[in-house]
Amino acid sequence: MKLTLKIWRQANAKAPGKMVTYPIDAVSPDMSFLEMMDVLNEQLIQKGEDPVAFDHDCREGICGMCSMFINGEAHGPDRLVTTCQLHMRKFKDGDTITIEPFRANAFPVIKDLVVDRSAFDRVQQAGGFVSVNTSGNTQDANAIPIDKHDADRAFDAATCIGCGACVATCKNASAMLFVSAKVSQYALLPQGKVEATDRVLNMVKQMDSEGFGNCTNTGACEVECPKGISLENIARMNREYLAASLKG
Ligand code: SF4
Ligand code: FES
Repeated sequence: MKLTLKIWRQANAKAPGKMVTYPIDAVSPDMSFLEMMDVLNEQLIQKGEDPVAFDHDCREGICGMCSMFINGEAHGPDRLVTTCQLHMRKFKDGDTITIEPFRANAFPVIKDLVVDRSAFDRVQQAGGFVSVNTSGNTQDANAIPIDKHDADRAFDAATCIGCGACVATCKNASAMLFVSAKVSQYALLPQGKVEATDRVLNMVKQMDSEGFGNCTNTGACEVECPKGISLENIARMNREYLAASLKG
């Protein structure tokens, strides 16, 4: 396949950025999107040019690092996959592909396609700890009865990989889907109920202080989330927050 790539280049957070066009050929439909980017970077290095900086780690859809906005969609045109799991067979010979960083005030650009998503880390840190007894006489987890539906929903929420696609997709750059997944993964389980009040209040406070926008229920985050995190988590977080505010 021969393709034309239009890629956002920006030397650092303060420098002005611009789209730069790169023709690329010999792209196999079986390559992943990141392998295609590797080929481009090898060519740029051979020409003595600066390779395109982009984040990646596991390349297996687990770490959430590969944040790219491809043809106007977070993680590109496929559904329920991260950029590292996106394959070039989703594109056609001759296509032009635009590649931009995830854009949000709370995710400043570090270089090219790499953004600083440490705001997510701080939101999670604000959630604090879970006071599970690990003293040596810990209760067997299987001895704690948990409704199957609650266990399934907690597990579904816990599959959020913190990639930030929900923020990048939302017209308000809201982080509600991410934060609600992190609240829900504990809120549904007995082990998470001990600190539940402080957790939701502190995480929402940190989310607001990081400069994320408000949720206006457009639902774009759910559509673009590579892990299928449901909007029902946002409704649950709102209920948790209301109950915690009344207590507090
Ligand atoms: S909710 Fe989905 S899109 Fe948002 S950070 Fe988690 S996995 Fe990524
Ligand atoms: S590189 Fe880890 S999810 Fe894509």
